[in-house]
Amino acid sequence: DRSYDFYGEHQAGITTPVQDRLHFASFDLAEGATRADLESLLADWTAAAASLTRGEEIGETGAVGGSPYAPPEDTGEALGLGPAGLTLTFGFGPSLFVDADGVDRFGLASRKPAALEPLPRFAGDALIPASSGGDLCIQACSDDPQVAVHAIRNLSRIAFGRAALRWSQLGFGRTSSTSVTQQTPRNLFGFKDGTANLKAEEHDAVVDNVWVSADAGPSWMVGGSYLVARRIRMIIESWDRVQLNEQETLVGRTKGDGGPLSGGGEFAAPDFAALRPDGTPKIDAAAHVRLAHPDVNGGIRLLRRGYNFVDGNDSLGRLDAGLFFLSFQNDPERFVTVQRSLARDGLNEYLRHVGSAVFAIPPGIRPGQSIGDGLLN
Ligand code: HEM
Repeated sequence: DRSYDFYGEHQAGITTPVQDRLHFASFDLAEGATRADLESLLADWTAAAASLTRGEEIGETGAVGGSPYAPPEDTGEALGLGPAGLTLTFGFGPSLFVDADGVDRFGLASRKPAALEPLPRFAGDALIPASSGGDLCIQACSDDPQVAVHAIRNLSRIAFGRAALRWSQLGFGRTSSTSVTQQTPRNLFGFKDGTANLKAEEHDAVVDNVWVSADAGPSWMVGGSYLVARRIRMIIESWDRVQLNEQETLVGRTKGDGGPLSGGGEFAAPDFAALRPDGTPKIDAAAHVRLAHPDVNGGIRLLRRGYNFVDGNDSLGRLDAGLFFLSFQNDPERFVTVQRSLARDGLNEYLRHVGSAVFAIPPGIRPGQSIGDGLLN
C-alpha cells in the first residue's frame, strides 16, 4: 500500500508518479466569509490532509469512535482502505485575490502573483462558467477511487459554512506518466498519452519548467507551481468513424506502439523534417505532437497529469467523455503559448474545451505549518 508524505519542499501530487484515480474539486468561499474564515479553513484542511494521506480517519474520534448521538467526524467509507497512494494538492484561484467584480474580499490583492491571471479566451473555447474557475482547488489523486472521493467529501464537509464546492471532476484513468518507471497509459482516442511528458527523474528540466524560482517570485510562491485544468470533451462518436491512418496523421504518432510517424519506437525523437517519397512531411503540419512540441514553443515543456473521464451520456445517447487535462508549469503563460499553438491542431475537430481554471499552487510545508501560511502571513 503506497503512501506519500503530505509534508515536503513541494506539495505532493505534482512529480509524484501519477496515480490512476482522480477527484478534483474547485471551491468558492462563502458569501460574507472573512479572512479569519479563510485562515481557519486552510488550517483545518491541512490537519485533515495530513491524516487522510496517512490513511487515518479524520477528527478526534474518526468514523465510529464518537458519541452515538452525534454524526461521526469521518464519513467512514475509506475505513480499511489504507492510504492508497493518496496525495492532496491545494491551490488558490485568481478570484481569491480579486473577485470578478474587482473586490479584494480578503485583503490579498497585493499578494497576488503577477502570473496568476484568468486564462485568455482561446479559439474554439465553449466554456461553461459553472464548471470553470474557483477560489480554491484540491486535487485528490489515489490508487483507489473511493479514497480520493472520501478525501474530497470530507474536506468539503470541513469547509461547510466557509466554502462550498463550485464544481468537481472524477477521473478514472491517468492519461500520462510522470516517472520513467511507469508504463504509458492511453487516452479515450485510444492513443498512448504521456510518452514525451516531463518525468520526475529529469531533475534539471523539472526545475526549469515546473517550480517557481526565487527570481520569479513572489517569495511565498517559490518552490510552488501553477496548475491549469481544462475539461476537454471528446466527440468520440465522430472520432470512431475516422480511418486509422487519418487518426495517426492527426496525432503524429502510431496508434499501436506510439512511435513518431517519422519512424522509431515509442521513445524515438520525432523528426519533423522527414519527408515521404511524395515530398509531404511524415509528421503532418497540423499534427498534435508537432504543434505541442517544445521545438515550436520556445523550448517549453509542461508537466501533464490529466485523466480520462466519462460522466454518463447526453439525451442523444452520446457519451459525455473526454480528457480532464491538468498541467503544472512555473508560469501559466507557458500553457497559453502551447494552447495557442494548438489552434491549428487537426484534433480540434474532435475536441471541445468546456471547462477551464488556473490556480497558484503554493510550495510544500513542514509539520506545524498550514498550507496558507506563506500567503496569509
Ligand atoms: C502529446 C493527446 C490536449 C500538450 C500528446 C500525445 C497525445 C496527446 C496522444 C502524444 C504522446 C505524448 O507524448 O504524450 C492529446 C489529447 C488531447 C490533448 C487527446 C485533448 C483531449 C493537449 C493540450 C495540451 C497538450 C490541451 C496543452 C496545451 C501536449 C504536449 C505533448 C502532447 C506538450 C508532448 C509533445 C512532445 O513533446 O512531443 N498529446 N492531447 N495536449 N500534448 Fe496532448
